[in-house]
Amino acid sequence: MQPFSLSSPLALLDAPVVGDVDRVFEYCQDPLFERYLTVPWPYHLEHAEGFLAEYVPSGWMSDREYTWALRDPAGPDLLGVICLRLSGESVAADASVHRVGSIGFWLGAPYRGRGLIPEAQRLVADWAFAAGIIDVLHWECLVGNVASARAAWKSGFRYSGTGPSVTAYRDGTFPDSWHGHLAAGDDRSRQPGWPAAALAR
Ligand SMILES: CC(C)(COP(=O)(O)OP(=O)(O)OC[C@H]1O[C@@H](n2cnc3c(N)ncnc32)[C@H](O)[C@@H]1OP(=O)(O)O)[C@@H](O)C(=O)NCCC(=O)NCCS
Repeated sequence: MQPFSLSSPLALLDAPVVGDVDRVFEYCQDPLFERYLTVPWPYHLEHAEGFLAEYVPSGWMSDREYTWALRDPAGPDLLGVICLRLSGESVAADASVHRVGSIGFWLGAPYRGRGLIPEAQRLVADWAFAAGIIDVLHWECLVGNVASARAAWKSGFRYSGTGPSVTAYRDGTFPDSWHGHLAAGDDRSRQPGWPAAALAR
């Protein structure tokens, strides 16, 4: 698939470009990224260059992972990144087969606390469900990443449980993670059942 844009008055999602390299490099120095993300660490300029010039375009071309740049609709600056990885199929308890996607995101530190990620997740989920490419969206974060959990909770994800991550951490382990899911018909309201520790500010 070719990259395309999604937008609302609050957020513009469009193609990450090589010109975003300085911002990606700068934001990825955040110690939170070492702790909670699977990005390489230490994060060098070559990592940002490879991400923008190779990883992102090949994800779109292969329909493996769609990555958008998150920008302010009023300006071209990169604020963060959101991606939808197509993870294959899962079989539900009633034996129905679901196509599953997983969501990932980060924001540059100056742009947190504005509700940008719930808005960006809404745009991506609305598109993916309407296009019929997934039935269920999976979210996970390492246990303790309250900001990520609150963003998922505010976006209407249901808590699925705590257990090993689906995605390998950078050291090859699968650390304990909080998991959530959003189905095509869900109404996006805040769902009960989340552990207090995941939402504790
Ligand atoms: C996860 C992330 C994108 C969320 O961005 P955001 O939606 O702007 O969220 P905020 O930073 O405002 O945090 C969301 C909520 O968590 C709270 N919060 C933020 N950091 C927190 C912390 N360290 N401990 C507890 N609560 C925290 C905020 O007060 C906010 O509360 P609210 O829901 O009442 O508004 C952002 O924190 C980030 O980029 N983190 C580093 C990368 C990352 O962890 N990505 C997710 C990987 S699964």
